[in-house]
Amino acid sequence: MSKNNIIPKSKEYSTDGKVRHLSNDEDINVKLGKILGKKFIDYRKKWDDANNMKLITEFPLFLQLDMNQECNYKCPHCIIGHKKEVDEYYEGDYLSFNDFKKIVDEGSEYGCPSLSPQGNNEPFLIKDLHKYIEYAHHKGFIDIMLNNNGSALPIKRAQQILDSGLTRIRFSLDAIRPETYKKVRVGSIPLDRVIKNIEDFLNLKEKGGYKLPVVGVSFCKVKQNEDEVEEFINFWRNKVDTVSIQKFMPPTTNKQKYKKYYASDQYNEEPVKKFHCVQPYQRLTFRNEFMYPCCVSFNKDLKLGSIKTGTIYDAWNSKKMNEIREIHRTGEFYKDKTCNDCVNLIYPPEQEFLN
Ligand SMILES: C[S@@+](CC[C@H](N)C(=O)[O-])C[C@H]1O[C@@H](n2cnc3c(N)ncnc32)[C@H](O)[C@@H]1O
Ligand code: SF4
Ligand code: SF4
Repeated sequence: MSKNNIIPKSKEYSTDGKVRHLSNDEDINVKLGKILGKKFIDYRKKWDDANNMKLITEFPLFLQLDMNQECNYKCPHCIIGHKKEVDEYYEGDYLSFNDFKKIVDEGSEYGCPSLSPQGNNEPFLIKDLHKYIEYAHHKGFIDIMLNNNGSALPIKRAQQILDSGLTRIRFSLDAIRPETYKKVRVGSIPLDRVIKNIEDFLNLKEKGGYKLPVVGVSFCKVKQNEDEVEEFINFWRNKVDTVSIQKFMPPTTNKQKYKKYYASDQYNEEPVKKFHCVQPYQRLTFRNEFMYPCCVSFNKDLKLGSIKTGTIYDAWNSKKMNEIREIHRTGEFYKDKTCNDCVNLIYPPEQEFLN
């Protein structure tokens, strides 16, 4: 059984050890394999091999697109809740629809299977987001996913999203109790309205006979909500396909400032001894126009170039990218300052690997 003793371990998976996804019936990737067929199954096999560092693909399997930093909430555990830090850690131009097309076109050329048009922002504030998703879907991307805060998805948009080709949608809630929700999701609409939006989305999906997207809810576990995890899982597990519990990642290297958000079982001052990061084997992350080997916001020193002047292929196969992969293959994460900071900020020494 899993740590929480609620859902058998075989129904858990993680993309990077930071997020645990729990599914209520069968493993969600098995379910998606049945819906999407061989192409999806082959891609997940490559994903597993990349995660085990047995495979370095010629092009990323996953493109993560942090296209802008616009949000209607100011969650205190998220970089978006801290404007000064957004200004400090982000640079370059937001990605336009034309930039998006350029990225997707290159991905399509290499048969890239997976993409997320969401970063540190609220994706449904992007005008006509469904058109971005449709474009990627028609260009052959089969695993298109996003998280959203559930506040900006009225029925009309929900219908557009259902018709867009989106594969996975997750609603981030981080609370089960309304008073906690207000504290962890500052500037939010009330929790019951978000729950209503999720229920409306699920009803629309069911009535229309849509198999996709698979629907999940997400909970970033911080000190302020840590006693609600089980209640949250129990409330949602039979309503949605997946319940995700995320580890808190300090948005910047200022550990002292963010100390108060660490869940009690996560914070640790002891240096991490053993860790292998799989992100540089899986994905390329865009933060605005710039490309990086991973999703953390304090990785400026790992920058691989701009999509305005270079290609994804060249960034993915660059010397710098290969060096990062190599230090993680050998477990020598401490050789890179950013990785060393990152590992010691996020992972307690007893880090449990789910991959
Ligand atoms: C940055 S948000 C962007 C999408 C959307 N605004 C939302 O809230 O889902 C994506 C996910 O990251 C999570 N998140 C935000 N700050 C985080 C942090 N410091 N550590 C871990 N997860 C975080 C959110 O809870 C959310 O599930
Ligand atoms: S809603 Fe999402 S992007 Fe916005 S502040 Fe909260 S976690 Fe960050
Ligand atoms: S900074 Fe290094 S250890 Fe952290 S996510 Fe990026 S590649 Fe992985």
